[in-house]
Amino acid sequence: MRSTAFTRTEGGASETLPAGSFYRDGGAPAIMRAAHFPDELLSYLQMEGLAALKSAIRHRCDSLVELGCYDGRALEVARAAGLPYLGIDISPGAIARLNRRIHEEGLDGQARGLIGDVLHSSSWALEIGGRRPLQLFPFNLLGNFAEPEKVLHSAAAAGGIGVISVFDEQPSTTAVRRAYYTACGIEELDEVPGDYGGVAFQGEGGFASQSFSAEGLLELLGSVDATVLHTTTNRLGQCVTVRLGGGLDFGPED
Ligand SMILES: C[S@@+](CC[C@H](N)C(=O)[O-])C[C@H]1O[C@@H](n2cnc3c(N)ncnc32)[C@H](O)[C@@H]1O
Repeated sequence: MRSTAFTRTEGGASETLPAGSFYRDGGAPAIMRAAHFPDELLSYLQMEGLAALKSAIRHRCDSLVELGCYDGRALEVARAAGLPYLGIDISPGAIARLNRRIHEEGLDGQARGLIGDVLHSSSWALEIGGRRPLQLFPFNLLGNFAEPEKVLHSAAAAGGIGVISVFDEQPSTTAVRRAYYTACGIEELDEVPGDYGGVAFQGEGGFASQSFSAEGLLELLGSVDATVLHTTTNRLGQCVTVRLGGGLDFGPED
């Protein structure tokens, strides 16, 4: 689906913002810095970590892959579950920071960060240690893409279990998101309807982020090779656990 929310009209001409331009131009440290997070976000991030841990155990995953990992928040989930960890991010600075942390914590044999694009799993999927990975789409990562189905198609090719964490469309959530993006220094935030029942923000530097209604996310998941297994929600969003792609030998816990 082509995203109208990610198309803006300037000087009478329609200009499509390239997905990821904000991050390609070095936006990760602003948007991922905990110091910029409103207090309300913390419960959402806790829910995400616990949902990932629960799904990793329940579905007997044998590794954890964090997509758009920045400095590796889900490394703690992998540590708690005793799983090898692979973090993928397009930001070289984020991966350098993550690999420094991995080294300083003596986790070189179990964890690794790689510069990579989540849209191109063929360039990093062979680095996944294990046959049943849990792929975590953290902190509204999916909402950064004009065509989120492409991220899901890419992940489905690598297979396993997906845990997808997205913001919801509630006005109170939209207000927290506005406070968050503003604290990150993103100016001129326009707010328009998203393609999946949520609210899309567009800001300077190519920043674009949409949220998802429960129905909108189900519609998106219905268009890719993903089977919904279970869902956790709180007042800011939801974490949906899905089975990605096919062909892996999963047991009855699915
Ligand atoms: C997890 S998302 C956070 C989104 C934000 N919370 C929001 O609501 O829009 C941000 C992280 O994803 C990474 N990222 C963005 N596009 C990417 C891509 N195509 N491939 C890999 N990582 C990407 C960024 O570098 C950043 O560290």
